[in-house]
Amino acid sequence: MKIILLGAPGAGKGTQATRLAEKYQIPHVSTGDIFRANIKNATPIGVVAKSYIDKGQLVPDEVTVEIVKQRLAESDCEKGFLLDGFPRNTFQAEELDKFASVEKVVNINVDTTKLVKRITGRRVCQCGESYHVDFLNGKTDCAKCGKTLYQRADDNEVTVKERLSVYEKQTAPLIDYYEKAGKLVTINGDQNIDKVFEDIISSL
Ligand code: AP5
Repeated sequence: MKIILLGAPGAGKGTQATRLAEKYQIPHVSTGDIFRANIKNATPIGVVAKSYIDKGQLVPDEVTVEIVKQRLAESDCEKGFLLDGFPRNTFQAEELDKFASVEKVVNINVDTTKLVKRITGRRVCQCGESYHVDFLNGKTDCAKCGKTLYQRADDNEVTVKERLSVYEKQTAPLIDYYEKAGKLVTINGDQNIDKVFEDIISSL
């Protein structure tokens, strides 16, 4: 099972990827998570990535493509993987076609006007779970592992608007790219998390 999750920032890619990876027992490969781990460990890649992520812009293709190429070459990706946040422009999609054969591209569609609220209210845990403040009832710890939740540095309103604009210009054209390749399925992401999950499973 070799799948791409496509969607605007906040569409629910990470939320669904965690569940899908568990159900199908395939690795969840998130370029955003890889960059954030590099930033936390102050690696050279992390230093470069931070300067772009803080502004809501894409990390340069030469850095990003190489990271994914290396990750997909690892043995746990042999039987399948779930790509979240990659590819993000046509160049990355064309490069991916050279080193991996993806079967399905799940496009999670949510009206962009709702996404700013979703992202600025997001609280995340280092275990990978994410929540929205509206449903936390004042709780500050992760229901799954008990660790303290935090807000991502790029989840402020200014950066989110730039991320959405980058998505429209650079990533949205991939919907057409994968439609033409006959690999695209579009899911209504403006439903509760369980229903979105159900719809994705049915589409696969
Ligand atoms: P990345 O980490 O990939 O972030 P993103 O694409 O902006 O996506 P998000 O993680 O913000 O949203 P999501 O769709 O995963 O939503 P989530 O499930 O958390 O990238 C970050 C940065 O890294 C980029 O800006 C770029 O700089 C760089 N980068 C990454 N990949 C790159 C690449 N390939 N090339 C170059 N640069 C790259 O959900 C959001 C919120 O909504 C949560 O609070 C959640 O609880 C809630 N929610 C989820 N589903 C629902 C639902 N159905 N109903 C109600 N609420 C929901």
